[in-house]
Amino acid sequence: MTDKIFETLECPICGAAFSLNESGKSIVCAGVRHHCWDIASGGFVNFSGSHGGDSKEAVAARRHFLSLGFYEPLARRIKELLGELAPGVSVCDAGCGEGYYSSAIASGGHSVFGFDLSRPAVAAAAKRKLPDSFFSVAGINAMPVRDCSFGGLVNIFAPCFEDEFSRVLRHGGIMILAGAGAKHLYELKAAIYDEPTENTERADLPTDLSLIGREELKYSFTLEDREDIRALFAMTPYYYRTSFSDAGRLASLDRLGVTADFEIYVYRKD
Ligand SMILES: C[S@@+](CC[C@H](N)C(=O)[O-])C[C@H]1O[C@@H](n2cnc3c(N)ncnc32)[C@H](O)[C@@H]1O
Repeated sequence: MTDKIFETLECPICGAAFSLNESGKSIVCAGVRHHCWDIASGGFVNFSGSHGGDSKEAVAARRHFLSLGFYEPLARRIKELLGELAPGVSVCDAGCGEGYYSSAIASGGHSVFGFDLSRPAVAAAAKRKLPDSFFSVAGINAMPVRDCSFGGLVNIFAPCFEDEFSRVLRHGGIMILAGAGAKHLYELKAAIYDEPTENTERADLPTDLSLIGREELKYSFTLEDREDIRALFAMTPYYYRTSFSDAGRLASLDRLGVTADFEIYVYRKD
């Protein structure tokens, strides 16, 4: 654990600063009650008592699918935007999942602080051993970090909490939000549902941060393996909402052409 990590974190209970305890296996706060959290063997800290966020199966599916590289254009664009607008800053990856985008951001020379409610996701992210980075299990609506800690924040396919994101961003800081555009994965939905619909604009977009850019990133790709199709399906919200018989239609496909349609919003905290 580096000085930068200790300068950034604060106790989620009393707000006091942390230091490493004598054993080196936990962090302890300087408050009167000395709140203490263990450092897991993977090097991350679990600040959450709950078992929320993505399941082990969803994390494994996302990890499998992302490793195929079909979303690499999105990772590249996010890295480029941060390189242009916020070079060299510490970046918060709010809802980091298994760290696929954190990894791209770190390769651009940023230190990354990743937060996610899913323990298996954070364990997988920490395993990436990204330089100068730190991952923890925590709700992104109340992150255990000091005000104005980050020059950049990314929120990719995860819920947006504007007040909290604004709190942890410093003035002039950049926030990049990425999610599904209208046609994202339309063919996957068409393979499952009789009447597929396009995605509507998300309802949780920031209203107080300044919108300085909005772009669409759209392209097609083809999956040629049942296991890859299953992994894509299992990492989407449709997986949990689809009947057994509808899911069966997808399971019989050996090939699926899909549209990737990402909406990217760039905000600045003035
Ligand atoms: C669709 S996944 C996206 C993960 C990653 N950003 C990516 O695109 O690969 C959404 C992630 O948000 C996490 N999540 C959802 N609600 C959360 C919350 N309130 N606090 C922290 N993480 C949350 C889930 O556990 C999951 O890992």
